[in-house]
Amino acid sequence: MHKILIINGPNLNLLGKRQPELYGGSSFEDYLVTLREKYEIIDIQYFQSNHEGEIIDRIQAANSEVEGIILNAAAYSHTSIAIADAIQAIKIPVVEVHISNIYAREEYRHYSYLSAHCKGVIVGFGLAGYQLAIESLLQ
Ligand code: DQA
Repeated sequence: MHKILIINGPNLNLLGKRQPELYGGSSFEDYLVTLREKYEIIDIQYFQSNHEGEIIDRIQAANSEVEGIILNAAAYSHTSIAIADAIQAIKIPVVEVHISNIYAREEYRHYSYLSAHCKGVIVGFGLAGYQLAIESLLQ
């Protein structure tokens, strides 16, 4: 696995500023520097969007560009049949990540339309979940 794409969904551009008690105090860009240093041999690409259609476009394009996707679709995980369809439409593995423990939060966060179509799901380990997702793609 040489090329991995991390996709973050809506409001995750605010990491570090948004509800730090839930999502931590680090921006994703800062975390990405550490991640890229740890996995020098992997080309870790990053895409963030607040728009459902842009996330779908990126998932579709990734199928021929990278070998695996790490996806935190944020609130769209709980609402988007369209993103679930996009995951089913591609051949490369997708690992779903949630920074917070969605099962310890509101009931509407307990269900993800995406999980059944992903290789696996990593929930509640903070930003370290993205590293765990990389490890799972390297297996
Ligand atoms: C989240 C959990 C979602 O319920 C929420 O809407 C997010 C972030 C997480 O990473 O914990 O925006 O996906």
